[in-house]
Amino acid sequence: MRTTLGASPTATRPRRTMSTSRPRRTSGRSMGHLAQGRMQVLALVNQKGGCGKTTTAVNLAGALAARGERVLVVDLDPQAHATMALGCAVIDEPSVAEVLQDEAFIEQAIQSCPGDLELLPSHPRLSEFEEAAERLIHPDQRLKVSLDAVRDRYDWVIVDCPPRAEGALCANALFASTCAMLVVETGAFALQGALQALRVLDEVGEGQGRSYEIRVVGTLFDRRTRFARELLVALHARFGEAMFDTVIRTSVRLREAPAVGLPVQVLDPSCRATADFAALAEEIVSTLGSVEQPRALLQAGARPQNEEHEESLARG
Ligand SMILES: Nc1ncnc2c1ncn2[C@@H]1O[C@H](COP(=O)(O)OP(=O)(O)OP(=O)(O)O)[C@@H](O)[C@H]1O
Ligand SMILES: [Mg+2]
Repeated sequence: MRTTLGASPTATRPRRTMSTSRPRRTSGRSMGHLAQGRMQVLALVNQKGGCGKTTTAVNLAGALAARGERVLVVDLDPQAHATMALGCAVIDEPSVAEVLQDEAFIEQAIQSCPGDLELLPSHPRLSEFEEAAERLIHPDQRLKVSLDAVRDRYDWVIVDCPPRAEGALCANALFASTCAMLVVETGAFALQGALQALRVLDEVGEGQGRSYEIRVVGTLFDRRTRFARELLVALHARFGEAMFDTVIRTSVRLREAPAVGLPVQVLDPSCRATADFAALAEEIVSTLGSVEQPRALLQAGARPQNEEHEESLARG
């Protein structure tokens, strides 16, 4: 079934910029517990707005690409922030909106961008997909089906999700994903928000009859504040091994990079944000698929010992 989401059908337009062949990942790199050669799809999620999902998506992708990995960024947010942060724009070309609606092939929509990255860009008309999804069969499987067509081209797909975690867009990201990365700002109400997000992830996974690995990454960390340091300790206590050791610190460079349309690795290879994302990429490559999952924490009776302290932190 074809429904018109954008102004005109785009499926017959020529592909723009996607290269036909990409260099293979350099051999000998440790892939931890990941299946060798299998494309990994990471969905960056949290219903909380402004917690660093897009910043993490773009710059984690940049860090993986800097290691020689073949990376596709999927901008699944109608705000199109990841698209802009990578210096791209959609005018009348196909975007992820048309791909999800079967009006364009994924290869037609992918664009090349700085940092040796490729991007499936977004456009504000993607917001119409939530409503259109009600008329589609298996609307949450659309992204996965499209990604299957480029499975041989990429080692990693990084999906930047919109803040609306329970909608059809996020459901597409989760259905396609091998890992849901919960992005948690180390600020007020972070823990409550993270637990709420975890519940949503659980519900979506249950509804889809599948499970995916869940990992947690802390962002916007300012070690000068005692609150942030204590919150980080509480997050580690709560999420255990599922929480990455790497935390992304606040950095002026991370505010500048999207304004000039570059991943931070290209803007400033020696800044601390580049170092943070390199460390996160290393941790992901070496530990994905190998850690105990945090879901048990949500199940009946599972309460952290330091809950009172944790709740007082969560209240900020
Ligand atoms: N580590 C950081 N240091 C400094 N600024 C940051 C950092 N992470 C994110 N920011 C800034 O915080 C703002 C929100 O970040 P971002 O857009 O990544 O959040 P988001 O979760 O994607 O938001 P939304 O829910 O609206 O999609 C942006 O202005 C971004 O530049
Ligand atoms: Mg965003």
